[in-house]
Amino acid sequence: MTPPVANELYIAPSILSADFTHLADAVAMVEDAGADLIHVDVMDGHFVPNLTIGPPVVKALKRVARRPLDVHLMVSDPDRTAMWYVDAGADIVTVHVEASTHLHRTAGAIRAGGATPGVTLNPGTPASAIEEILPFVGLVLVMSVNPGFGGQSFIETSVAKVAEIREMCRALGVAPRIEVDGGIDVSTAPRVVSAGADTLVAGNAIFCAEDPAAALAQMRARASAQLV
Ligand code: DX5
Ligand code: ZN
Repeated sequence: MTPPVANELYIAPSILSADFTHLADAVAMVEDAGADLIHVDVMDGHFVPNLTIGPPVVKALKRVARRPLDVHLMVSDPDRTAMWYVDAGADIVTVHVEASTHLHRTAGAIRAGGATPGVTLNPGTPASAIEEILPFVGLVLVMSVNPGFGGQSFIETSVAKVAEIREMCRALGVAPRIEVDGGIDVSTAPRVVSAGADTLVAGNAIFCAEDPAAALAQMRARASAQLV
């Protein structure tokens, strides 16, 4: 597997919007189109009102994916289950700050297991909630919709939150990837990137496009021009 190059925009198509009967084809299609990461949405029907996939599917995806698996855990009690995903082959395991009681310990365990720990926060959670953990993660995921479903509208206040987190990182002297997830398309992508994001999750904007490869390329061109 070729790791993505640092200091470049990463695009992480979310397979939540793919046809689940043909996941391997969906992964291959977006990889051929230039995806940097494969975003995998794990939902438990408890932390969010939807239920998707678990470790066996992550393990199966790992067998076919050529790009790193970016696993977003929307689950209650991730402290108990995060390592299932590391063991299944996830390259990045991102945990919600609202759901983790022992985030520092869990982030350390994910890293010790050989994966990159990420932290994420819901639209209603202030940026300050993740300040203490920033030095211990490789990625911050800013949710720009309330998690649970693809195809929702981008929440505008997410742009300012990205800028706030980017500034917080600068002040602390740390540089995790800053990823944004939810309602990212060709018009919102450049805006969050100009605010300081460098990694974009996109589900519907890619998988529901008439030409997914062209949609990904257009998003990359427009957003890369705004990298700060
Ligand atoms: C939402 C998920 C997202 C979702 C994004 O709960 O975390 O990753 O798939 O889908 P779009 O890009 O369609 O908003
Ligand atoms: Zn996600």
